[in-house]
Amino acid sequence: MKTWNVNSIKALKGQGKISCLTAYDYTTARIIDQAEIQLILVGDSLGMTMLGYKTTLPVTLEHMLHHAEAVARGVVDAMVVVDMPFMSYQISIEDAISNAGMLMKNAGVDAVKIEGGAFRVPVIEALVENGIPVMGHIGLTPQSVHAMGGYKVQGKKSEDAIKLVEDAKALADAGAFAVVLECIPALLGEEISKAIDVPTIGIGAGAGCDGQILVTHDMLGLYSELTPKFVKRYANMEADMKMAFKQYKDEVEDSEFPADEHTF
Ligand code: KIV
Repeated sequence: MKTWNVNSIKALKGQGKISCLTAYDYTTARIIDQAEIQLILVGDSLGMTMLGYKTTLPVTLEHMLHHAEAVARGVVDAMVVVDMPFMSYQISIEDAISNAGMLMKNAGVDAVKIEGGAFRVPVIEALVENGIPVMGHIGLTPQSVHAMGGYKVQGKKSEDAIKLVEDAKALADAGAFAVVLECIPALLGEEISKAIDVPTIGIGAGAGCDGQILVTHDMLGLYSELTPKFVKRYANMEADMKMAFKQYKDEVEDSEFPADEHTF
């Protein structure tokens, strides 16, 4: 059995020690798992980072299945959560169960994530009752980017903040094992974290959350089209990769590669 599952993740509540990164392929998932990150999200951000779309909206169940299968094959210990893509859980509860079930059956993942507040309670309850662990996601919910009028910090007005606290409580009561809080003021992140008894995983939600998540391409400096304020770059891989590609090209042109040691 894996070290990280719904129970061991929930047991980390209140310690601020959960780290989560996105992965979309076998090799990256394997490295993240070996770095002892507890949670891996096969995020629908793959629409941008892997497929070159402008938003997550065009991402399909087939895309998610394809990438989730590869990630699951690379992971030994981390809990793997897969995003349910836009319109795979919104239309009906039957659809949501059948689509989440398909991902759990075929991708070998451990849980699904869905976006939205208290209005998602019936779907979350139905999934949890049917043995499918659910991670919630509130605040900036990228699948609603058009309804929100862009990628903006949420919960700045007091009535919006109160609603987000109520949303988080409703998701936790419905059985979500954790809740992602995206792009909200740090004080609100802390308040929500204190108000619910399951872990909060923050992305741009301050240090008061029970855990943090970053998009791996952002933290590695691999995706430079959009860098939100909440991203810390731990590497500059775009520059490193360009340098390696350029050096390879120069060495081919200068007949330096392949050398004797690369030759049969
Ligand atoms: O798709 C994703 O990567 C996400 C994270 C930003 C939380 O949902």
